[in-house]
Amino acid sequence: MCGIIARIGQGEAADTLLSGLENLEYRGYDSAGIAVQNGSGVKVHKTAGEVSDLKSTLETRPHGNVGIGHTRWSTHGPPTDENAHPHTDMAGDVAVVHNGIIDNYDELRTELTAKGHEFESDTDTEVIPHLIDEYLRSATDTEQAVRQAVETLEGSYALAAIVDGEERVYAARKGSPLVLGLDDEEWFLASDVPAFLDHTDQVIYLEDGDLVVLEPDTYRIMDLQGNTRERSIDTVDWDPEDAGKGAYDHYMLKEIHSQPTALSNTIEGRIQDGEVTFEALPAGTFEGIETVQFVACGTSYHAAMYGGQLLRAADIRTEVVRASEYESASGPVDETTLVVAVTQSGETADTLDALRTGADHGARTLAVTNVVGSTAAREADEAVYIRAGPEVGVAATKTYSSQAVSLALLTQRLADDVAHATPADDRAEMLDTLADLPDHLEQILEQNAAETLAQETIDSESYFFIGNGLGHSVALEGALKFKEITYEHAEGFASGQLKHGPLALVTENSPVIAVSTGGDDEKTKTNALEAQSRGAPIVAIGPDDTPLTDIADTHLSIPETHPVWGGLLANVQLQLFAYHAAKQLDRPIDKPRNLAKSVTVE
Ligand code: F6R
Repeated sequence: MCGIIARIGQGEAADTLLSGLENLEYRGYDSAGIAVQNGSGVKVHKTAGEVSDLKSTLETRPHGNVGIGHTRWSTHGPPTDENAHPHTDMAGDVAVVHNGIIDNYDELRTELTAKGHEFESDTDTEVIPHLIDEYLRSATDTEQAVRQAVETLEGSYALAAIVDGEERVYAARKGSPLVLGLDDEEWFLASDVPAFLDHTDQVIYLEDGDLVVLEPDTYRIMDLQGNTRERSIDTVDWDPEDAGKGAYDHYMLKEIHSQPTALSNTIEGRIQDGEVTFEALPAGTFEGIETVQFVACGTSYHAAMYGGQLLRAADIRTEVVRASEYESASGPVDETTLVVAVTQSGETADTLDALRTGADHGARTLAVTNVVGSTAAREADEAVYIRAGPEVGVAATKTYSSQAVSLALLTQRLADDVAHATPADDRAEMLDTLADLPDHLEQILEQNAAETLAQETIDSESYFFIGNGLGHSVALEGALKFKEITYEHAEGFASGQLKHGPLALVTENSPVIAVSTGGDDEKTKTNALEAQSRGAPIVAIGPDDTPLTDIADTHLSIPETHPVWGGLLANVQLQLFAYHAAKQLDRPIDKPRNLAKSVTVE
């Protein structure tokens, strides 16, 4: 977790660092800090709280053209001023920001303490500036000291360091993302592109084992032995406007409303003459595959459930595994297995771990991700990009829709290659109606039914979401989104499971939100009726002709579509419901407590 940034170039660094950190706050927002260097000392400013708190503590911006910054999601030690980054050595000459976890920090801290180093924080990171300082005593130059320090570290890191009196930034990566941004007059390093997208779209995605030295007019990328590593420059096709909030109150609302565009991008060029095509996956790519395993977490897991069900319908043996449980929950894995990591960030540690474990057992691997150059995209044999554009709100919205559509298309692509698979007999109709999905989404976004429902149910004790078939994963996703941003008790179930325990919690003060995808809703109707007879208000979300409308107290309508896409429309109603409930409760919608968007620790 955590976001880091570094900047070197003409002019002042502080404002650029602060605005970059604001764009990285989705990675963590419990403390923030910057350090700048101007030839007369390294000046560190840091505080518990958000970047806005840091800004308000800075009466004037510290002067200097070289700097680093950090926004934190705590792992070692609570969010206090002392634990905020940057951390320094004792003299305050070396300042470091870090994202990742140093596994051997305890041992290093003991060794350094024995040599006279004193520590001020509870963090693992603080050993890094002390190590650099220690090696500086014997090294020929700072580059050598940084290299020695990095070699000593075990664990994962994207780190950047500045040193008093040097117009340089030193950085290294292993296991945590780090990208270099190249503008005409300044260089950047950051955990993610939105940190500097206002300045440049020219990037180099760094790789594990890379050590970088930035100077005002040159940059060098090396391995830990000092050998030059050649890296290509990519152009990012995200618009800086995509990374902003625009006229919306929250990123989440903006991202919900951008789903018609996001989905058009997801689909573009992938349906040709009634067939599904992915540039990276030519015909025959999946020959020899017998089992597909989806590995994912959270919302991405719900998208994977959606895709998994479609794959089973195509008679392909499928497992959908929570990535954190992969070791114990996966079936046999061999070279006939395809492990598909579904991860919008491409950086989720649990998902990467499952992907690597699958590969170690001989499986072929595929990443379905939103982030070009992410670790999942680079490590998997192939990558499919969902093309949703940058998502800043911590609660995933547009990336879920784009993932689910990508996986539905992937299902058809797999069905063409995998022996014994049966492609959908109504494929042409399914793909035709997909083209209408962006328009159908617009129709939902024009309604205010979800907002009204949120107002009417805001005093409820609990919220239960049910659905069967494809609606099951939508119900789970609806409950996750609701609890994540409202902090209210919400749970999702397969409709038929309500009576096996959860019904004990149902009262007249716990609405049951029944999801219809436009398929067979009789089971959901029966179970909703059981809840209704115990007093629960029933909300039906689905097309106008669902039998659920016969019993529902409230109905949120979705346009008629193919049953494969109905769940995605219902999900948008659920996103709006969660958003408006959280807004009424005055929750920090884009930054829910204790969470961060990219979970890079296990
Ligand atoms: C919830 C949410 C999380 C993520 C999960 C996986 O709104 O966003 O549950 O879906 O942390 O993240 P990725 O997709 O980046 O692997």
